[in-house]
Amino acid sequence: MTTPSSKPRILVSRAIFPEVLAQLESVFDVEHNQADALWSAQELITRLQGKDGVLTTGSECISAELLQACPQLRICANMAVGFNNFDVPAMTASGVQGTNAPDVLTETTADFGFALLMATARRMAESEHFLRAGLWKRWSYDMFCGSDIHGATLGILGMGRIGQGIARRGFHGFGMKVIYHNRRRLDAEMEAACGARYVDKATLLTQSDHLVLVVPYSAESHHVIGAKELAQMKSTATLVNIARGGIVDDAALACALRSGQIAAAGLDVFEGEPRVHPDLLTVPNVVLTPHIASATLATRRAMAQLAADNLLRFFVHGDVLTPVNTPVASRN
Ligand code: GLV
Repeated sequence: MTTPSSKPRILVSRAIFPEVLAQLESVFDVEHNQADALWSAQELITRLQGKDGVLTTGSECISAELLQACPQLRICANMAVGFNNFDVPAMTASGVQGTNAPDVLTETTADFGFALLMATARRMAESEHFLRAGLWKRWSYDMFCGSDIHGATLGILGMGRIGQGIARRGFHGFGMKVIYHNRRRLDAEMEAACGARYVDKATLLTQSDHLVLVVPYSAESHHVIGAKELAQMKSTATLVNIARGGIVDDAALACALRSGQIAAAGLDVFEGEPRVHPDLLTVPNVVLTPHIASATLATRRAMAQLAADNLLRFFVHGDVLTPVNTPVASRN
């Protein structure tokens, strides 16, 4: 006869680093998904039955319906800094702790944002495709001319930790003029460290040579860059989105790229990813990457470890390291 385990029961909803999984397995009763199957919303609910906690990536949705169907669930630990896959008000109201994975990915993601900006402005993907296609027959004076990064105006929408990392790179490394718009203005010391000047959104759109989006996704930031905003940008401008799909209206962006309303875009995130708007696949002046801004082994390992540490802290010490909410009541 088997006796029910007294260990907390945890679901790890996607494949993660085996060594992090092994740590969880040494403390918890773990169901994992090392086969990395993509579960439907219903299958996730089924697998969560009787689970006390879950380690999610940004791809699994923790909805009010799921919370209601999984009354034993007490904590959702996201292996991502963004947590728009969580219905936070529903979690808070139903006593479920949410955590995310901030800080450990800041510099890696800022590196990538800057790399995508450079690849976009200097037309690296477009010119590489041209070379691979065997179309390079001779040098010419204006072949794949892009726009300068050094000395240009770098605009940043969303000046959190990653936005500040990009600002520092632009200001200290490339002598850029940095302007930003954010819900909250940084204090003077932080602005000085990034060499950044606060402007309103219209000024950001009209003055940026390169505009990088690092704003979290919410109802408020949905399509914050659409046809109207693209029309306000310089025709020579580049746009980079490393934040979340849905912040940019991808259909409007494809039109703006095709018509030359802006010069180029670099996108790491897409509305409805992993699907990509078909029009973006056919315009040449866009660099497309599959949501990899935080993807170095060291950083992804640190993100998984932080999510695991949140679960360990919660069940062993009754607190967490990086909460995204303060539940109003506790379950059970
Ligand atoms: C990645 O997109 C994250 O939110 O960590």
